[in-house]
Amino acid sequence: MTGRQANKLVALGTFVHCHSRQAIEFMHNSVVCVDENGKIVRIEKETGEGRLHAKAHAVIEELGWHHEDVNWHVCEPGQFFFPGFIDTHIHASQYPNAGIFGKSTLLDWLETYTFPLEASLASLPKARQVYTACVRRTLAHGTTTAAYYATIDVAATNLLADLCLSIGQRAFVGRVCMDDKGLNPDYYRDESAEASIQKTKEVIEHIESVDPSFDIVAPILTPRFAPSCSKEAMTGLAELQREKNLAVQTHISENKGEIALVAKLFPDSDSYAGVYDQYGLLTPRTVLAHAVHVTTEEADLIASRGAKVSHCPCSNSSITSGAARVRWLWSRGIEVGLGTDVSGGYSPSVLEAARQAVLVSRHVAMGVEQEGEEKEAAKLTVEEVLYLATRGGAKCLGMEERVGGFEVGKEWDAQMIGLAVVGEDGEKTGEGNVDMFGWENWEERMAKWLYNGDDRNTKKVWVKGRLVHERK
Ligand code: GUN
Ligand code: FE
Repeated sequence: MTGRQANKLVALGTFVHCHSRQAIEFMHNSVVCVDENGKIVRIEKETGEGRLHAKAHAVIEELGWHHEDVNWHVCEPGQFFFPGFIDTHIHASQYPNAGIFGKSTLLDWLETYTFPLEASLASLPKARQVYTACVRRTLAHGTTTAAYYATIDVAATNLLADLCLSIGQRAFVGRVCMDDKGLNPDYYRDESAEASIQKTKEVIEHIESVDPSFDIVAPILTPRFAPSCSKEAMTGLAELQREKNLAVQTHISENKGEIALVAKLFPDSDSYAGVYDQYGLLTPRTVLAHAVHVTTEEADLIASRGAKVSHCPCSNSSITSGAARVRWLWSRGIEVGLGTDVSGGYSPSVLEAARQAVLVSRHVAMGVEQEGEEKEAAKLTVEEVLYLATRGGAKCLGMEERVGGFEVGKEWDAQMIGLAVVGEDGEKTGEGNVDMFGWENWEERMAKWLYNGDDRNTKKVWVKGRLVHERK
């Protein structure tokens, strides 16, 4: 029961995706055919101006498709297709707090704002309200895949998985494990390490029952972060990971106070990354959020285990955590994606996270004392942050064969973006903050979208060929 629509789909117009970190590919006057399973089966590039529709009809005939079985989606002026965004780190349970953090920093933020809200979602009607709004809001911003943290509650976490499946957002859904008596409040923690593992298994079984092949929704092991977890719980989760090769998500080295706490709680480990490694949680399927203050030794350990990093620039600025060095992480051989980290981050938009990634990288550059190559290199480009938002995220989640770009064999997780067009009289057609005058080249259009775009520009969103959001 994945709620798929049976129709085939043909998209016509300009397709834009990231070829590599540095290169964006623009395919104009092109045709993409998507079969009833949501897979891209044919791409015809650059058919030539005026020949697009004729080519499309010829192609569907070749495929043996009937017109009445096909949904057509055609770009108008100012519109293009882009791969769906991938949010590699978001707390669905914290969505009502987006924007509410005052001047707090991580540990007091958790205590003041976060734990009380998460605990309150043991009420299923409230969980349904919050999770429905979160999934719909993120889809409206073009997020086709999200790695979600839910709460410690099994029923509410299962509900989040059900909602992602029925509304149609691809998701990794994690029940938060937090059993340690030190940091976690009495009113919000797992009763024991055994309970942590048992409840995690219940969520995995539920997801296996509703989406057996993890087509749309998959479980993800979610030890909240080292200070929340006992050694026994982390060890048990690592066993589960090895047994089923499941994805893992947690936080690392976000804030100096947190790092000092980890050093105190785990005196036998050399470092924060060393704690996760010691208990078997640093794997190629692990996504570590933040990594703001990791040392060179930790980065090398993370790289050697093939673990990934979710860069959360909006959150890192909002709760004053610091500026993560993406270029440096890349240079150590670590794959990086973007996370909104709602509600450490105030915005559910991955486009906003990409924009903030650019700005934070400029702050990293300003922190490099010496003028020259290193300072210049710290700055991320438009192409690079759009890569982080799509292909980079796909790689972090082990989805790079399925999503993140437009290639035959990949699934159609895509968004149709529309920018306003300014006429000769200065009046514009189309909504939003981005005005296209017509003389911008395509690189400039992407930059204008990145810096001033928002959900008003996200006209349609598909996941696995299913239209899951349309802006009316
Ligand atoms: N570290 C432990 N829990 C959290 C959380 O909910 N958000 C963030 N940003 N960091 C954390
Ligand atoms: Fe987080």
